[in-house]
Amino acid sequence: MEDLEIYKQMAAQRCLDYVESGMALGLGTGATAGWMLRELAARLADGRLRQIVGVPTSERTALLARELGITLVTLEQQPRLDLALDGADEVDPQLRLIKGLGGALLREKIVAASADRFLVMGSAIKRVARLGERSPLPVEVVAFGIPLCARRLAALGCEPVLRRDSTGAPFITDEGHVILDCRFGVIDDPEALAAAIHAIPGVVEHGLFIGMASLAVLAGAGGVSIVCASV
Ligand code: A5P
Repeated sequence: MEDLEIYKQMAAQRCLDYVESGMALGLGTGATAGWMLRELAARLADGRLRQIVGVPTSERTALLARELGITLVTLEQQPRLDLALDGADEVDPQLRLIKGLGGALLREKIVAASADRFLVMGSAIKRVARLGERSPLPVEVVAFGIPLCARRLAALGCEPVLRRDSTGAPFITDEGHVILDCRFGVIDDPEALAAAIHAIPGVVEHGLFIGMASLAVLAGAGGVSIVCASV
């Protein structure tokens, strides 16, 4: 296995130590979340954990969780979650995140906001000094609004690119929207950018997760580090 995958697996396994029997979990999307689901299933199978239910953040996660025998519920059935566990594309020292390269940012944000605690997990390369250093910012918009959204996003300092799937067709999210990937470069003021993007008619959600994560579990060559927000 590649080092990066091993680190994702290490972070996911460590995150499971925060899970207790009887909890309702938010189940993230992505490779790290996949490792987390496998570890959760293993702990349920050998009795280390019992009576766990999860709300998946994507159809992809729901499929894998079902295959692994994890009990799924909806937010209607379980409006409040004890803990959400998810990956991220970038994590800054204040635990502000960029998420959504996997296309699930809308449900991910709703699920994280429904949880008492939100734990981020990933390889240590997700750590950045300032958001936007590496990742574009995914912005989910309604298809009808693409021309206006793209123009207004460009005016904020990026070149929006419509995300496409492997066939070249526009990528459609689980909620039936499209994604504009916006490479801003280093984002000086994530809070102000978040507000400006939200103000654009047609924008459904963006991948800036601010003030949501309570802990990050990041793994690299030096082992696993637990990061709390520094303000
Ligand atoms: C999904 O939409 C994303 O927010 C993922 O959580 C993010 O891309 C991290 O994915 P990996 O665990 O695959 O790096």
